[in-house]
Amino acid sequence: MSEPPRLVVLISGRGSNLRALAEAIRQGRLRATIAAVISNRADAAGLAFAAEQGLPTRVVPQAGLSRAAHSDALRAAVLPFEPRLVCLAGFMRLLAPTFTQAFPNRIVNIHPSLLPAFPGLDAQRQAFDYGVKISGCTVHLVDDELDHGPIVMQSAVPALDDDTAETLAARILSAEHKTYPAAVERLLHEPWGIEGRRVVFQSSQSA
Ligand code: GRF
Repeated sequence: MSEPPRLVVLISGRGSNLRALAEAIRQGRLRATIAAVISNRADAAGLAFAAEQGLPTRVVPQAGLSRAAHSDALRAAVLPFEPRLVCLAGFMRLLAPTFTQAFPNRIVNIHPSLLPAFPGLDAQRQAFDYGVKISGCTVHLVDDELDHGPIVMQSAVPALDDDTAETLAARILSAEHKTYPAAVERLLHEPWGIEGRRVVFQSSQSA
């Protein structure tokens, strides 16, 4: 049997989406292997989880580095692991074009809103404050603009009248944990292409 495709996961914090990817792999819902977990922060809780799982970890600190220099250092850290996909999972640093160009259409991100609504920081609170009745999460390919690349998969959740920003965020997070592994599985194992801004899975096209 051929080796499952390799992922490198980039994190900055608690790493619950990293855990969701690892759990999906363990359960056979995601046919992949996590080749490495890389963080810009040595104190990211997700790094401890990765180490417990025996996954290779790297820290690429950004202190004192320009975005371009940090992205170069990240690219050098990621390349030896030869990932099919680079998965951003709460990675809180914008990547320079030298990074995105090194992995064309092979970087994915999960964002806690239905893009293009509410890009950027604190998306769940932005949606809550706006008063939306539906929110959700978006898995998208990463390009050089913030939370902008072609959409791979979205899941919607209701925003309820008795929600707080926190309860809405928790509902979105559970959707993220299902959606991210499912989107990565499709990207890895189904034929797809990009038409304009649209990610098109050939198996989803009508006859
Ligand atoms: C998630 O809400 C993700 O959508 C956003 O950052 C958060 C990361 O959470 N990009 P975690 O570190 O995966 O728990």
